Amino acid sequence: MSLDADLLKVCISKEEISEIVSKIAKRINEDYKGRDPLFICLLKGAVPFATDLLKEITIKCKIEYVKVSSYDGIRSTGNLKIESKFPELKGENVIIVDDIIDTGKTLLELKKLVLEKGAKTVSLAILLDKPKGRKYDVYADYIGTIIPNEFVVGYGLDYNEHYRNLPYIGVLKEEIYNN
Ligand code: IMP
Ligand code: MG
Repeated sequence: MSLDADLLKVCISKEEISEIVSKIAKRINEDYKGRDPLFICLLKGAVPFATDLLKEITIKCKIEYVKVSSYDGIRSTGNLKIESKFPELKGENVIIVDDIIDTGKTLLELKKLVLEKGAKTVSLAILLDKPKGRKYDVYADYIGTIIPNEFVVGYGLDYNEHYRNLPYIGVLKEEIYNN
């Protein structure tokens, strides 16, 4: 069975994603001209977004990929787990690239860490924003688009590690969760 048969609906098409990504790239190209930013792209969800975005970044820049996750439940809230080697950040103008901001926990913690490690500035470039899910006071400087409080998959976003390879973003059928 094809992957898209599991979707209730497509909410952001390939074409729409492409327009959204171009708009963010254009703003970053203007805002970071002459500042040699360091993009920190978060594995694995941000990979398709980062790949498309970076192809449209025309200024001099550096690129790193890191894997982070945040503990939840009983494992003390707000603890960020860095799962890969972290780049040297002293004096850098960091742009964190991620797929989605929901509760805001991961990105709030990461932003703090990046500044603690000596970055000069830090900003967030996020494809999707779910403001209704927010539990921590964090905002993104570059937001692709705002979505309702629904669980979405595709274009890097997963459900149990599946659906990341869909070229668009959609909402899963409820029966997929309940099975
Ligand atoms: P946070 O709650 O803002 O810290 O988001 C943490 C992570 O939850 C994101 O980077 C995604 O990996 C995941 N996430 C949040 N909402 C969704 C969704 O709708 N689909 C897939 N992953 C999600
Ligand atoms: Mg993620």
